[in-house]
Amino acid sequence: MVVAIGLLLAGSLLGGCERAARSTEAPGASMQAPSPAVPAYAGAIYAPAPGRPQPSAAQLTALGRRIFFDPSLSASGTQSCASCHDPRHAYGPPNALSVQLGGADGRTPGPRAAPSLRYLQTLTAFSEHHHDNDGDDSIDAGPTGGRMWDGRAGSAHEQAGLPLLAAAEMANGTIEEAARKLARTAYAGEVRGLFGEDVFADPAAAFRAAGLALEVFQESPADFYPFTSKYDAVLRGQQKLSPAEARGLRLFNAEGKGNCASCHISERTPDGAFPLFTDFGLIALGAPRHRGLAANADAAFHDLGLCGPIRTDFTDRPDYCGLFRTPSLRNVALRRAFFHNGVFHSLEEVLRFYAQRDTAPQRWYVRGADGKTRVFDDLPPQYHANVNIDPPFGGKPGDKPALTEAEIRDVIAFLRTLTDADQLPAAAGGAPKK
Ligand code: HEC
Ligand code: HEC
Repeated sequence: MVVAIGLLLAGSLLGGCERAARSTEAPGASMQAPSPAVPAYAGAIYAPAPGRPQPSAAQLTALGRRIFFDPSLSASGTQSCASCHDPRHAYGPPNALSVQLGGADGRTPGPRAAPSLRYLQTLTAFSEHHHDNDGDDSIDAGPTGGRMWDGRAGSAHEQAGLPLLAAAEMANGTIEEAARKLARTAYAGEVRGLFGEDVFADPAAAFRAAGLALEVFQESPADFYPFTSKYDAVLRGQQKLSPAEARGLRLFNAEGKGNCASCHISERTPDGAFPLFTDFGLIALGAPRHRGLAANADAAFHDLGLCGPIRTDFTDRPDYCGLFRTPSLRNVALRRAFFHNGVFHSLEEVLRFYAQRDTAPQRWYVRGADGKTRVFDDLPPQYHANVNIDPPFGGKPGDKPALTEAEIRDVIAFLRTLTDADQLPAAAGGAPKK
């Protein structure tokens, strides 16, 4: 199903053109047979508009690439999308900062860690009830999908323009300001060629054009889903895992041990697609509060993910508090800040947190005035029941952790096989290739 929607989308892109309204139709709706009087594309995001030019996917990709790397589109004049989503770091952050700096002064810290933009190509729109069609589809997997850590942006299309405006990112403030900057770029003529000579007369149209180009660029396979990791070569039967990597994969999959694959899918899908190491589900893991974050200087502030306050449509759903979207683990070994708040800075720390969250909570959470550990200290107590307690979590303080130190080393050896071939310079810590 996911693949089918992707293909439909790709197909519609090829005949694409900018169009005013964003369709909020469910994907299924566009698959109904159209009445003969209404063309099939009517109402679709990429439907051609009479009298307007129709840029091809290749043209949009080329334009999107220029926009993605253009710092002149930010309020500070110094920041492009690539500042936080660096292609030499799998379109993730190039440094070890927990959260990246942005804004008009280029120094405003954002509220969350910048994710990698790779392997999002089959990410669906957010849904509260996800049903897999590759087995028992009566099982409701719960909140799934959507862009951002809290799933709040429904599609890449909806997402694409947000960072141009976001106060802690490119900080343009208004669509008009972003469009004015676009009109002043060296490639403004290219934008007019693709979207019409009058495109800058309507700032909203120019802004949508930029969003569309960014979206299509982010769907380019060579840049965003190359599938060139060692693990991909293993799946193709071209390489073999080392003994440590193979042990790591077994621990990653084993239900009573890492159980990682229950959320970070490691096997091919039934229809043969290579795994993305996420099911895109939103889950509460009880990540420790990151006291270094500017927003957390206010003891009353809590980033609760799906239930807000950044996301605003589920503030009345206490059962959604603390849930964040499961990230892909492809290229994860390139990261130097982990989890939505960037609280961890090495894979060793992340793995120990998984293994020892419940068996050694004092290692992760602060102590209250009474000297007792305040578990899940970034989540007000009324939401603690939302936190996942399946393996590798579980047990009580003092119990044996689900993974030993040696096993943790093996899992990390396996995670390193998920780095794409073009990223190996950064993985080796050497000078990244341009
Ligand atoms: C200052 C750093 C910064 C800049 C600049 C920036 N981003 Fe981001 N980006 C982030 C952060 C942080 C998030 C996660 C935000 C959240 O979850 O609330 C994010 C999330 C995203 C996502 C969602 C990914 C997912 O896993 O759902 C996409 C897509 C994205 N950014 C694209 C872009 C594009 C395109 C640009 C340029 C127009 C851009 N970003 C500029 C920091 C940045
Ligand atoms: C119940 C689902 C679930 C299980 C099981 C699980 N994870 Fe995760 N994983 C998540 C979610 C959700 C996040 C994001 C949590 C957050 O930011 O608050 C995450 C984040 C991560 C990250 C940080 C990635 C990044 O980009 O910041 C790593 C690394 C990771 N998991 C590895 C593992 C490993 C290894 C295992 C097995 C030992 C595992 N996970 C088991 C759901 C899961």
